[in-house]
Amino acid sequence: MENSILREIQTLKKEKNAVILAHYYVDGKVQEVADYIGDSFYLAKIAKQTQASVIVFCGVSFMGESAKILNPEKTVLMPEREAHCPMAYMVADGKIEEMREKYPDLAVVCYINSTAELKRKSDVCVTSSNAVKIVKALQAKNVFFIPDENLGRYVAEQVPEKNVLLNDGFCPKHKEITAGQVRIEKQKHPFAKVLAHPECTKEVLAEADEIGSTAEILAFAKNSSAKEFIICTEHGVYYELKKQNPDKEFYFVEPCPICTDMKKITLEKIAHVLKTGENAVEIDEGLRRAALLPLEKMLELGN
Ligand code: 13P
Ligand code: SF4
Repeated sequence: MENSILREIQTLKKEKNAVILAHYYVDGKVQEVADYIGDSFYLAKIAKQTQASVIVFCGVSFMGESAKILNPEKTVLMPEREAHCPMAYMVADGKIEEMREKYPDLAVVCYINSTAELKRKSDVCVTSSNAVKIVKALQAKNVFFIPDENLGRYVAEQVPEKNVLLNDGFCPKHKEITAGQVRIEKQKHPFAKVLAHPECTKEVLAEADEIGSTAEILAFAKNSSAKEFIICTEHGVYYELKKQNPDKEFYFVEPCPICTDMKKITLEKIAHVLKTGENAVEIDEGLRRAALLPLEKMLELGN
């Protein structure tokens, strides 16, 4: 059954001149059929560069939306229309306007895990792998970081010369990881290095040996001489961690963090959208052009 669906996807991909992009958090079987697997920054760059006519985006809605904003002449298909990142909506109405009034020099820095509406109101987008670099490069002293409070706090610590103002958004999955759970794993695996995503709370980050995006976590694990790692992020990264490091061991806290929205993507749904063209991302042209500016600024400053 699985082999026949894999064959079907390969045939449809050729027929439609399609490319499959997948985030590290989707199911391992989905990562296996992807042409490109990566963190949010890498996937945004690929979405802009690809020569394919159709992009099948295996991830949550803000990712497909960003791909369409960057590449409007392409068809962007979402295998699951209802895969959303709850954090992407977590900025109160009027909050950005209120902050702009209070701080005339304000730069609004928008984590890519956000809606196009929020991007449109922002000066620059960032991902977890380039946020520090981009905030450092900004002219403004006052920076409003939206929507993620934890990533914002982490950036503020790395860039003390800026006044980084925080918003109260969060990733429910990373927020569930506690420092107590990490300490339990440390007791069980005393030689393990702790690698954490900056969406984790400050208490969890305080337990970490290294902090970085999913791609950076993979790079730390690969380049380290350590053999065991405690991974503080969503479980999907395990697939690529193990693929790149078959001789190393990776442990997750209990209960294991699973992003249910990312896991909604299946091989069957990929085949279905390729076959039918359903779930194509549509975006109002005015909104797209406005949201494109902060995304392009990210690509320029982040590279
Ligand atoms: P990165 O892909 O930047 O590591 O971000 C993780 C994430 O939560 C994506 O939704
Ligand atoms: Fe959003 Fe968290 Fe899922 Fe990433 S892991 S898509 S931030 S809910």
